[in-house]
Amino acid sequence: MQPQVITLNVNGRTHQVALNPNATLLQTLRDLGYTDVKNGCEKGDCGACAVLLNGEAVNSCLVLAWQAEGAEIITNSGLGTMDHPHPLQEAFADAGAAQCGYCTPGMIISAKALLDSNPHPSEEEVRVALSGNLCRCTGYGQIIEAVQMAAERMEETRCKGQDAGGER
Ligand code: FES
Ligand code: FES
Repeated sequence: MQPQVITLNVNGRTHQVALNPNATLLQTLRDLGYTDVKNGCEKGDCGACAVLLNGEAVNSCLVLAWQAEGAEIITNSGLGTMDHPHPLQEAFADAGAAQCGYCTPGMIISAKALLDSNPHPSEEEVRVALSGNLCRCTGYGQIIEAVQMAAERMEETRCKGQDAGGER
């Protein structure tokens, strides 16, 4: 198989990579150093490899890298940093929603896609949105709590922003 050169946009950075046509997005991202994208099952069962592809949460083990050419790819590490974490990342830490942490990046990606489309999800809606993400440590209670906590905090931030805007 002839390697092909493609361009991937990951977390705001552009990468040119030579790869075989059958290379998965999961393996390609990890080879590029995005090891926050976890390899769990490689067959779409666990959600550990989830990334945002043009805003939609997908299992990167089920996507060929060339299929993502030209798309905006966001991994968990692209959502925030240690100094400026995303509210979801902060809430996962505050709620104790990570035990071994292996499922956490994928959980946060699925939760981000949910909150982008539904900022006020019910507990049931959070459970459904995360149903493709498996936690082998089984800390689901804290994970659901973290997503709801993040949703509340993000709503408070939006309200404060509106108040501040109204005062001007
Ligand atoms: S590694 Fe992709 S779903 Fe499990
Ligand atoms: S925290 Fe260990 S797999 Fe979820």
